[in-house]
Order: sequence, then C-alpha cells, then structure tokens
Amino acid sequence: MSSPHDQLAGQSSPGLGERLGVAPAELKSRVIDFYNGLNTYLSDSSLDGYVQFFNWGYLPVEGRPDDWSGSLPAAMLDRHAVRLVLELLGPISVDGLDVLDVGCGRGGTLATLAARCAPRSLTGVDLNPRSIAHCKQTHGDPRLRFFQGDAEDLAFGDGSFDLVTNIESSNAYPDIDRFYREVNRVLRHGGHFAYTDLLQPGQFGHARDFLAANGFVIEADRDITANVLAARREAAQVQLRAFNAEEPGAADPTRAALMSYFLAPEGSEFFDHIEEGRFEYRILRLRKIADCIEL
Ligand SMILES: C[S@@+](CC[C@H](N)C(=O)[O-])C[C@H]1O[C@@H](n2cnc3c(N)ncnc32)[C@H](O)[C@@H]1O
Repeated sequence: MSSPHDQLAGQSSPGLGERLGVAPAELKSRVIDFYNGLNTYLSDSSLDGYVQFFNWGYLPVEGRPDDWSGSLPAAMLDRHAVRLVLELLGPISVDGLDVLDVGCGRGGTLATLAARCAPRSLTGVDLNPRSIAHCKQTHGDPRLRFFQGDAEDLAFGDGSFDLVTNIESSNAYPDIDRFYREVNRVLRHGGHFAYTDLLQPGQFGHARDFLAANGFVIEADRDITANVLAARREAAQVQLRAFNAEEPGAADPTRAALMSYFLAPEGSEFFDHIEEGRFEYRILRLRKIADCIEL
C-alpha cells in the first residue's frame, strides 16, 4: 500500500505562486507584505528586541537520531530555532568560512553562528527591507553584514562563499531553479549548501534531481518533519499568546489568521496538512563539486 507521501511524490508539485494563482512579481510583493506585517506586530510589542527567528524550530524526538549531539538550556529563548540551525549544519565546521545566509529574516541564524563558531565572515540577504533594517540595528558583531536582496538574483561574485545556508525560505521563491543556480554560482568549489525547508514531497524530488544534475553531491538528506511538528506542539501556543495577548488589535481576525498560519499550532490547517504528509520538512546538505551546467 502506498503512503500519502508516495502518492504525492508522483504528482507534479506546483510552487506557492501556482497554488495561490499569482505571478512571480505579485508573489514576492505578497511575501514582503506578509513579513512587513510580522515586523510591525513585533515593533509594536515588547518582543521586538527578543525575536531573532521566523522559523518553526526543531525538537529532538525519541527514537529519531539527531545530527547535533549537544544540548541547549531549557530556558533559552528561541532554543528550537537555534537547534534547527545546529541540526542543519551537523558535521560542517564553520570556523574560518565565508558564510551566506539566504532568506536570513531577522538574523538569528548568523547571530547563532557568530556566537558559537569562528567564521571569517557572515552575510545575510533577505527580500524584506524591514527585516534587514532590524538586522542592521540589532546585530553589532563586525563580522556580520546584511543586504536587502532576492534569492533568485544574488548580488555577489562567483565563488564568494564557502557555505550557503537557507532555512525555511525557498518555499516562497517563484523560480526555485534560479535560486539553486545562484547558490552554485556564489559557492566556491568544495563549498557546502546547507538547506532546510517545508516543501511538498515532489518538490524535494525535484530539488534532489536538479541539484545532483547541476554540480552538487548530496551528503545528507533527512526527514525532520516529526521534529519540527514536535517543536510546534511545544512552542506554538506559547508563541501565539506572546504575539497576540494584550496587543492592540489582538482580536482582529486577519491578524489571528496570519499568526495561526505563521506559527502553525497543533490543530491549525497547516499543521494538519503536514501531519497528513502533504508537506515534508527536510534537511539537505550538499557539496559543490562542479559549476552548474544549466546556466
Ligand atoms: C520563514 S522566514 C525564515 C527566516 C530565517 N531563515 C529564519 O530561520 O528565521 C522566510 C524568509 O524568507 C524571506 N524570503 C522570501 N522570499 C525571498 C526571496 N525571494 N529572496 C530572499 N528572501 C526571501 C522572507 O522575507 C523571510 O524573511
């Protein structure tokens, strides 16, 4: 008997723009509006200085092996999101590397690397100007720099980085192959692409095929859906309360819907879709062995 995953993997997997029925430019403009909304909620609240991540995080689950063997303090803010970064990197040593984080959001990934490792440089790019303004204001480490920009058109020279990270962002790119080509271009030979996202099983099938045919070897491919759902179960309700409670406009249904979509608490439509196997959250670690041939 085939699982829902098998059935879905055989189908074509339209991206977000096709699912919403919007053209690429319109999708990017909606993505900017969406994160402008979140940044506005944060800047109007007492949370602004504390929220560094926009991802769903990772929680170890009994019986499922992890790629990072350390532990984080239970009382640490954003510990699920930090854990996702550490799981993503796994055995990759960041010391001495030039790192690019594409879709960097509010800079949590690069701040984590700055605090825990000794990279040579840390560069973040995000489409959302408000997130980039926040990053510039908040992260004072001189190794960090942030730019507003598009994952599909990276403003860096060929072979500029040793490691490209991308966390929970590519699902919103209208032309994901353009992004994959750009990652290949800006990476040095032997450099790593540490990639994690929530995609349909067929989209991951495409990613594997496209990347393997375009200069990458896949060093790791892990299904972390159960770990991400466990993090949602543990943290989403707390985050919902933090984002909504006692804020002006908390009763606004648009805002409530936005927050429910963004935080995916157990029982929300998005959470259910993931549990049903319509989406998978995976980590892919890839190494560049050749230039992209499909330029
Ligand atoms: C769910 S958030 C994750 C942010 C960050 N990686 C983290 O883990 O906190 C997705 C991010 O991708 C960014 N993004 C979406 N489309 C983009 C694009 N075409 N180019 C660059 N960034 C993009 C969004 O602005 C948003 O900050």
